[in-house]
Amino acid sequence: MNGFKVRGGASLHGVARVGGSKNAALALLAGALCVEGEVVLHNFPAVSDVLLMVDLLRLMGVKAERNGDTLWMDVRGLNCSEPPENYVRKMRASFYLMGPLLARLGRAKMPVPGGCQIGTRPVDYHIKGLHQLGAEITQTQGAYEAVASQLVGAEIYFDFPSAGATQHLMTAAVLAEGNTLIQHAAMEPEVLDLAYFLNRMGARIEGAGTNTITIQGVRKLQGGEYSLISDRVQAGSYLLAGAITHGDVTVEGVHPEHLQPLNLKMRECGVNVTEGNDWVRVQNPNRHNATDITTMPFPGFPTDLQQPMCAFLTLANGASVVREQVYDGRNKHVGELQRMGADIKATDGRTFIINGVDRLTAARVEAHDLRGGAAMIIAALAAEGESLVSGAEYVDRGYQGFEEALNNLGGSIERVALEAEDSAVVSSTP
Ligand code: EPZ
Repeated sequence: MNGFKVRGGASLHGVARVGGSKNAALALLAGALCVEGEVVLHNFPAVSDVLLMVDLLRLMGVKAERNGDTLWMDVRGLNCSEPPENYVRKMRASFYLMGPLLARLGRAKMPVPGGCQIGTRPVDYHIKGLHQLGAEITQTQGAYEAVASQLVGAEIYFDFPSAGATQHLMTAAVLAEGNTLIQHAAMEPEVLDLAYFLNRMGARIEGAGTNTITIQGVRKLQGGEYSLISDRVQAGSYLLAGAITHGDVTVEGVHPEHLQPLNLKMRECGVNVTEGNDWVRVQNPNRHNATDITTMPFPGFPTDLQQPMCAFLTLANGASVVREQVYDGRNKHVGELQRMGADIKATDGRTFIINGVDRLTAARVEAHDLRGGAAMIIAALAAEGESLVSGAEYVDRGYQGFEEALNNLGGSIERVALEAEDSAVVSSTP
């Protein structure tokens, strides 16, 4: 197992560039299966989850070559409707392949993706929507088997604006016969990016980015090129690292409007946040104030920045209340932050009370998921002394060159091999 040795205390200063969005890339890779031709994706992130998905597509007959941050694919050779279980179990986003496989091959067999460290994460919206689009689906021995001679347009409504289900069913609908209406759709920037990509390939999608999306089915998508949006979660993590260390950090290559919820909350805390057309800068020379956070679907505060924000608020002046409204288990960071001296407790699995303390002290802490790993590094950068953060493989799933970027800003992070006993004792979670 690998981890990070983090020496805290330095204020971060400088400029960090942000790469392509992991969550957009995963959705676009699934969407590309609907294209019978060549696809070129620019600003493509080389994070492990995305590279795993590319490997999976290769196993399924897709040709794919990556050169830096450009990926070339030829999807005409797609010949597999049963992605290997070990891939789907490793990464939930591979479940989004089910709809495109039905559209292209008329059948799909997908393992039921398990839960993970942040919650139960069911896929009932996905299954219900594919059924509405005309698929016949049975569940046997932990897998869904689906067949559809032709998907047909339908009216779909989500109880909760699920980002993944919106992306998955929007993709499945582009080759359906007739029109599809998705109501109470997710409005995440990654949903909009997928719609732009599919339309670039010849789809007819309107309303993406709003809560009502219409898809007019077409017979075929041709190939083309597309450049992904930047990763708003990676950008936000750099900004919080700059703010918690009372530094001056600018992230470039971003869409400030995608960071609006975080920027507004940091301003509430007294951080000086300025924006340009493709950059955001934070300056936080003094101790910041507390604030309350409620995570919600976009344009609410993003759940993926909840854990890094909790780290930031542990050193605030005053008490903060953080409510995690999206996932039922995104709380494993609470016990780890307590090990660093934070006064944080969970009144239930989804509500955290943070009384700001004057200082954090270095400790051995554990990353339980990728955003929790980023939160541990952010806290350790502000803690006195040298911390050990285990679980680098989690951080690598979603952050490209995280430690290099933070070191370029003045941080002191070293990737280290950890023996089993080096990992933090499994902290008691609330
Ligand atoms: C996507 O996950 C992202 N993952 C998540 O990022 C992100 O946190 C989430 O959207 C919310 O923005 C990818 O894009 C690969 P959801 P997704 O469906 O689509 C419930 C990260 O760290 N739900 O919006 O799986 C679900 O239980 C990851 O990068 C159902 O009940 O999230 C959850 O409570 C973590 N039934 C809520 O909706 C369903 O069929 C939101 O889940 C689907 C979802």
